[in-house]
Amino acid sequence: MVTRYYESFSFVFLYIMPDSPASKTLLAHTQHLLRRACLLGVGLAAAALAGCGGGGGDPDEAALSRRELLGKRLFFDTALSTPPGQSCASCHDAARAFSGNNGSAAGVALGADGLSLGLRNTPTAMYARFAPAFSMVDEGEGSIPVGGQFLDGRAGSLEDQAGQPFFAPDEMNVASPAVLVGRVAAAEYAELFRQEWGERIFEDTAAAMEAIKGSLAAFERTERFAPFSSKFDHVAAASAAFTAQEQRGLELFMDAGKGNCAACHIADPASRNPAASLFTDFTYDNLGVPRNWRIPANNDPAFFDLGLCGPKRAAPDGDPALCGAFKVPTLRNVERRQALMHNGFFNDLRETVAFYATRDTDPARWYPGGVPFNDLPAEFAANVNRTEAPYDRQPGEAPRLDDAEIDAIVAFLRTLTDGYGPSLAGNAEPMAAAGAAPRKNAARSRTPAATRPAANAAGTGK
Ligand code: HEC
Ligand code: HEC
Repeated sequence: MVTRYYESFSFVFLYIMPDSPASKTLLAHTQHLLRRACLLGVGLAAAALAGCGGGGGDPDEAALSRRELLGKRLFFDTALSTPPGQSCASCHDAARAFSGNNGSAAGVALGADGLSLGLRNTPTAMYARFAPAFSMVDEGEGSIPVGGQFLDGRAGSLEDQAGQPFFAPDEMNVASPAVLVGRVAAAEYAELFRQEWGERIFEDTAAAMEAIKGSLAAFERTERFAPFSSKFDHVAAASAAFTAQEQRGLELFMDAGKGNCAACHIADPASRNPAASLFTDFTYDNLGVPRNWRIPANNDPAFFDLGLCGPKRAAPDGDPALCGAFKVPTLRNVERRQALMHNGFFNDLRETVAFYATRDTDPARWYPGGVPFNDLPAEFAANVNRTEAPYDRQPGEAPRLDDAEIDAIVAFLRTLTDGYGPSLAGNAEPMAAAGAAPRKNAARSRTPAATRPAANAAGTGK
């Protein structure tokens, strides 16, 4: 694959010596050298200049280790899917903060076959590395699920996660690990892969799969996925100032009696450690998001995506109290999201915040016929969080947030978009244990940890 950097090099040569035979020879020679540099991974600076395919010419490549660079190649490689054409980046689009749905307007991702629509809206892969492994945190009278990758936490780590989309029929649709490894072995970065993982790596499919997952996870742990370069970060570092409306939005976001957003989307605006403000505590909650009828599976009125209790995993503890709960997402870069919430019901940030404010005061606005929580079977409607602001209101009561307050929160949320200023990732200190003290009202299992079978705690059910 040839990238923009690489092309601009060729362009310079052509410009200097337009159309002469010498220019063609030189051009071919230069292309050859650049390609060699890519293949051999000779000198990361050369590789960075050459672009080496698949990332759209990333000036930051020089900073990547060989393993991270390999992860990048894999992440952007559209030749791995069946049929070819889809890469991780098709759904996790760098221009949308590594979220998006591969061009689908249904709110959920379109598969490599160009027809299949999945169940869920693609989350951002940014800041995902901060999620702890999935576990049930004991809270005495019940335990709280925390962490994990995917919206139901079913993958324990980025490595675990990275192995799954290749083989999902509604995603990259690869028939088997052997097929995938064969495609990587035929890729132009195969030599780089051997250098990193061993000369004979492609002979052992299981080992090669681990290497693919390890490379992808390494790339997802690079600064590009967590630059902490938003206006919010710069205000915290005293290198920018909020407008009056953004400041008001922040106050409403933090205020337990108003937005109360920070109860779940945790933030510490006074901290100079940007990792103290991940805008999620990685707990789970059931918000009663309206049913998205554009999802083909929802044509069956008896089908429900219940997150923590299936269909893609078994409920931890087999506890029905967790049905309908999904992971609290980070709100960093939320402005870049094409669709919002686990089922992509919303495609507008302001509407999403308005939903929080008026779900209970004006249910007819969100649920056809005014019957609330239409994306849950009746027996699980009681699992919806109705006790915490802003959704602790009754129909007819005044919402916790009026229109101007919603606008202010949206203005504040727009300050969470990376790229406002230089990266402040250097100030980020790893959290002692993200989500170590989950909030009281998180979706909780009624089973105390002591009586829980140990196997469930791993959370790797499929
Ligand atoms: C067809 C679209 C699509 C493709 C291709 C795809 N993903 Fe995803 N990704 C999703 C969706 C949808 C989810 C959420 C699924 C769920 O919760 O069940 C997700 C979840 C994730 C998550 C978890 C984020 C979190 O906050 O929990 C990561 C990380 C991720 N994908 C990385 C990758 C990598 C790496 C690849 C390539 C190997 C990839 N994805 C390919 C759509 C896609
Ligand atoms: C009780 C916990 C809780 C509180 C309080 C809360 N949220 Fe959320 N938020 C969640 C969960 C859980 C989700 C994902 C739900 C789903 O997809 O079903 C979510 C999703 C979102 C999303 C969609 C993000 C995306 O990428 O799809 C936005 C935007 C959002 N919240 C903003 C807010 C704002 C603004 C407030 C305050 C007015 C707030 N939240 C208060 C738990 C909470």
